[in-house]
Amino acid sequence: MAMFFKLVTLLPFLVSLVASEDTSIIYNGFRSANLSLDGIAEITSNGLLKLTNDTRQHKGHAFFPNPINFKKSSNGTAPSFSTIFVFAIISQYPTLSGHGIAFVIAPTRGLPGALPSQYLGLFNETNNGNATNHVVAIELDTIQSSEFADINDNHVGIDINGLKSDRSAPAGYYADNSGGFRNLSLISGHPMQVWVDYDGVQKQINVTLAPTNIGKPKVPLVSLSRDLSPIINDNMYIGFSSSTGSVLSNHYVLGWSFKINGQAPDLALSQLPKLPRIGGKKRSIFLTIGLPVIIVGLVSLAISGLVYVVRRKRKFAELLEDWEVDYGTHRFKFKDLYIATRGFREKELLGTGGFGRVYRGILPTSKIEVAVKRVSHESRQGMKEFVAEIVSIGRLRHRNLVPLLGYCRRKGELLLVYDYMPNGSLDKYLFNQPEVTLSWNQRFRVLKGVASGLFYLHEEWEQVVIHRDVKASNVLLDGELNARLGDFGLARLYDHGTDPQTTHVVGTLGYLAPEHARSGKATRSTDVFAFGAFLLEVACGRRPIEPRGGPNEDVLLVDWVFSHWSRGEILEARDPNLGTDFVAEELELVLKLGLMCSHSEPAARPSMRQVVQFLEGDIPLPELSSIGICATGLTFGHNKEGFTDFAMSYPSSMDKAFSHSSSVADSLLSGGR
Ligand SMILES: *[C@@H]1O[C@H](CO)[C@@H](O)[C@H](O)[C@H]1NC(C)=O
Ligand SMILES: *[C@@H]1O[C@H](CO)[C@@H](O)[C@H](O)[C@H]1NC(C)=O
Ligand SMILES: *[C@@H]1O[C@H](CO)[C@@H](O)[C@H](O)[C@H]1NC(C)=O
Ligand SMILES: *[C@@H]1O[C@H](CO)[C@@H](O)[C@H](O)[C@H]1NC(C)=O
Ligand SMILES: *[C@@H]1O[C@H](CO)[C@@H](O)[C@H](O)[C@H]1NC(C)=O
Ligand SMILES: *[C@@H]1O[C@H](CO)[C@@H](O)[C@H](O)[C@H]1NC(C)=O
Ligand SMILES: *[C@@H]1O[C@H](CO)[C@@H](O)[C@H](O)[C@H]1NC(C)=O
Repeated sequence: MAMFFKLVTLLPFLVSLVASEDTSIIYNGFRSANLSLDGIAEITSNGLLKLTNDTRQHKGHAFFPNPINFKKSSNGTAPSFSTIFVFAIISQYPTLSGHGIAFVIAPTRGLPGALPSQYLGLFNETNNGNATNHVVAIELDTIQSSEFADINDNHVGIDINGLKSDRSAPAGYYADNSGGFRNLSLISGHPMQVWVDYDGVQKQINVTLAPTNIGKPKVPLVSLSRDLSPIINDNMYIGFSSSTGSVLSNHYVLGWSFKINGQAPDLALSQLPKLPRIGGKKRSIFLTIGLPVIIVGLVSLAISGLVYVVRRKRKFAELLEDWEVDYGTHRFKFKDLYIATRGFREKELLGTGGFGRVYRGILPTSKIEVAVKRVSHESRQGMKEFVAEIVSIGRLRHRNLVPLLGYCRRKGELLLVYDYMPNGSLDKYLFNQPEVTLSWNQRFRVLKGVASGLFYLHEEWEQVVIHRDVKASNVLLDGELNARLGDFGLARLYDHGTDPQTTHVVGTLGYLAPEHARSGKATRSTDVFAFGAFLLEVACGRRPIEPRGGPNEDVLLVDWVFSHWSRGEILEARDPNLGTDFVAEELELVLKLGLMCSHSEPAARPSMRQVVQFLEGDIPLPELSSIGICATGLTFGHNKEGFTDFAMSYPSSMDKAFSHSSSVADSLLSGGR
């Protein structure tokens, strides 16, 4: 056997597959490897296995083409196995990448139906966590996905049948002599070696990570005691899966060995293919030759161009304070944003929202498509907390929040950089005889998505974030029509108020809870109120306040739905564009829940946790009458005081309605009490 291994390691790029049960595989580079590739995976001309190229939101798979015989012993115990591989992750940015690599043992070759991004090309929403998957994966994860309870954005985890790791640890290793823990950064761009060992008798799986210049550390990084016999079938495929998210990242595997019932053969590290150069050496040669010339050139340029530079400086000037140093990677240069949006040209304007104008852009170096929001803002008050909050929300990825990539500050202006959402905002699918409308299933999914995003902001993140401006025009649809809530917490910037004499209430009429309008204080309940209005508008295809012809004919949506309910024909309030395509129970649930959330008494509204449970059907909706909504009396939303001390700081789509506010209040009073 020993001689056999020697032979194998002597022949570079050679695969050996012993015909017996104890399979052994070794690849010192993949130049002539016959792997089964799919997605964006490829093998480069010098023999690197490149699982992902510069394509966003994609996955790549590379599997050993034949199934491996994991034949169980007579008592049903899965055999031991061991694997070694060398990987490297090279990202566009030094401190931001996505999403990671996984070594995977799976019953199928290529994991059909799996999703990219946080799903790492391993699972999808439906089968994640399902015991019928029979998948074991070792993930090298570079993004913290809160939905899978990730510990940080740089960890190694053992995943069984789902992305919620059974055991995980921050990337690093225990040094042999000192025993001290040394951190490693998975996205450093340097190759690293991984050992995965499963002992079928001890029923224990160990994962060890180390840089390639040291041997295998004695103490494993992650160790899990678990019998894999029920998970591993007799014949399984082995390979790698990788996925990208919003940041261009290349995931490479340089070499790989695997063995059943024994130690996987060591890789010949010196024979592994070289990674593509990332900056570095090329520049130093360039500098030694070109430096004198450049200095001379620069000096003359500096003199002649002084005026130009000063002007340009002013044009691209930014505000940068000490406390922002920590957010280095999340800060964009104004110049880059200027170039991305071609000087904020009108042609790139996507829309004008409550807080400022939004432009489409393509970042100059990374070519990422982004949406840039320019928010004018004079006050420095609250800015530090605000930036801290948006940066940390931006660090996490929730599938129902618009990913925030970073920000930039100038005098009197804040620029927020978001992922570009190709399908735009939800309101254009709902109101004013839309060209394209959404089916009931799509709408219900959108509602559940937004509820989950808002619940996350309220309760699941480390601090409570009040959205303050939930409405259809702040819900964006990504490429797969997933709803993503945008503009979270933005209203807060204005809430502190530049003028302490008056209470500025930020939000949009029709979505504003009465106590919010009175006290100017936003709470989780005021968000729930706005969410109620949102539920109704999605179900009914109408705005919360529809200006109808003359000034005295404004119709309040909540009244309208209520009157249908009290006549016992709540389903008739639905959007006529739905036709007969709807699920009556779901529609009724949404409309009733909308009424519940619109209760004028904050305590009577459900929490977002309950809203999610109602929508998911985990708990039944209580009778409306039990919370004080009954057919004879209406206790919804708005009342006169709510409107009299009301001050809108920002224009919104409801401006027109607002100018009729007193008549709205009147009609409310007459219809409402
Ligand atoms: C590669 O593997 C596939 C699947 O086993 C096989 O059909 C094919 O002939 C192999 N190709 C080469 C060049 O060995
Ligand atoms: C990535 O790979 C896919 C499939 O091989 C290819 O279609 C695409 O053009 C590649 N993208 C880049 C940026 O190289
Ligand atoms: C199962 O069989 C293997 C070898 O055949 C043995 O090493 C192991 O101890 C047995 N396990 C049990 C639970 O009997
Ligand atoms: C999820 O993956 C499973 C298993 O690969 C597949 O059968 C299913 O169709 C996928 N579901 C979706 C919604 O893509
Ligand atoms: C697991 O998958 C099976 C088959 O696809 C399905 O019948 C079952 O409902 C799923 N279970 C869960 C908890 O998702
Ligand atoms: C390793 O990283 C963690 C978290 O980033 C940090 O708290 C710790 O101090 C680091 N340890 C060393 C030895 O650098
Ligand atoms: C895992 O690591 C522990 C601690 O070093 C060791 O005792 C055990 O034998 C290892 N198990 C395997 C399967 O390598």
